[in-house]
Amino acid sequence: MLIQRALSRARVLSTSRYFSSLSSIQMQTINLPKSPPFSFSSNNHGCNFLKSKPSSVSSPYSTAAFSLGKSSRKGVVPLAALLQIGGVQIAKDDVVKENDPTNNVPDSIFAKLGMQLHRRENHPLGILKKTIYDYFDINFPGKFEKFDDLCPIVTVKQNFDDVLVPPDHVSRSYNDTYYVNSDTVLRCHTSAHQAELFRNGHTHFLVTGDVYRRDSIDGTHYPVFHQMEGVRVFSPEDWSGSDMDGTAYAAADLKRSLEGLAKHLFGAVEMRWVDTYFPFTNPSYELEIFFQGKWLEVLGCGVTEQAILHASGRTDIVAWAFGLGLERLAMVLFDIPDIRLFWSSDERFTSQFSEGKLGVKFKPFSKFPPCYKDMSFWINDGFTENNLCEIVRGIAGDLVEEVTLIDNFTNKKGMTSHCYRITYRSMERSLTDDEINELQEQVREAVQNKLNVVLR
Ligand code: DAH
Repeated sequence: MLIQRALSRARVLSTSRYFSSLSSIQMQTINLPKSPPFSFSSNNHGCNFLKSKPSSVSSPYSTAAFSLGKSSRKGVVPLAALLQIGGVQIAKDDVVKENDPTNNVPDSIFAKLGMQLHRRENHPLGILKKTIYDYFDINFPGKFEKFDDLCPIVTVKQNFDDVLVPPDHVSRSYNDTYYVNSDTVLRCHTSAHQAELFRNGHTHFLVTGDVYRRDSIDGTHYPVFHQMEGVRVFSPEDWSGSDMDGTAYAAADLKRSLEGLAKHLFGAVEMRWVDTYFPFTNPSYELEIFFQGKWLEVLGCGVTEQAILHASGRTDIVAWAFGLGLERLAMVLFDIPDIRLFWSSDERFTSQFSEGKLGVKFKPFSKFPPCYKDMSFWINDGFTENNLCEIVRGIAGDLVEEVTLIDNFTNKKGMTSHCYRITYRSMERSLTDDEINELQEQVREAVQNKLNVVLR
């Protein structure tokens, strides 16, 4: 449990660290049920992706996992529950299936699908995306294609297998990833689109999108966040004139290009390269910058594994790739203190940002008082903190700021008790005692019923 917590914490603090450990380490924590961690109440709208007809308006990408005919959903789902992302029609009951043991997507996550904060021009994430686009447009005019509307519902194959994530990797577990069914997930990284884009012959591209990970709750973690993936392909003629082989040539270009990007975003900062591990690249690196008095990881990257390129039908090419978390960088660049703020529609937040203005410092409108509620219970073998957090988030939404384990002991009978402190705080207003007491009561009831723990 402790190891699991430590890993889980490490990977979200740093977007790329999620994939940057070796599977032998992950073997200690893996608890890979092919079923979700707890059961849900029933819902009678089942849907089988494989049986669904392709949508009449369809995106050329990532529809394989999710292609639904407009008419097939008509009459079943209220209009408000029908989304269109990248030309793909998505109905709520195709994503949230409460009586399906292979599905662990809650309503609160469905509510985020289609929000696409990265496509809002005056939003910090949209401003950051555009600033990164500008860097590539200035330095590689006309070269990089941009994709920011690819459907986040992808196959397990796209999300994991195609980018060589090992079968026993912790990220595949139901505890970490949102499964729509056993073959389909909400993408947990934008790398999920690499293979398809390679296969379709793209050689320079940036993919921006919302990504989904089950997680703990605090000021820097949210189950939906945004990433950008960048890829550049080289052909033998690119490196033949140099004294390097393809890999060394790509690695040198990668470092030069990304140092330039970091400078474009952060100014003349000190930088360092740290060797790391990702399943999809070799060699793999993290770029860190010295910013506001400490080393900050900016992105993960590397030279794409040949097996990924071979699978796309090209044996003679080499590529570099990088992935970065937009919230992580935007929080530092705009001084945004809590990740929930990105989702705020409060004008006091939204009015502070405008297109083209990177790095305008956010002025907090006010810090409302927190309210702490502790709850203790005897856990069972299947208990995970991510499941607890999902329940809390499902009830309290963005009013929950943090969930922290403050006490943990095992008695002589071998029963383990956990005490969690839930911090409630709105970003926008003061909360009343009554309101919080009611929320906490609902949380206690749901935790007891859904997690089968014994409240103390
Ligand atoms: N997909 C990685 C993550 O989400 C980030 C990443 C690292 C993407 C290295 C890349 C890469 O393309 O080369 O943690």
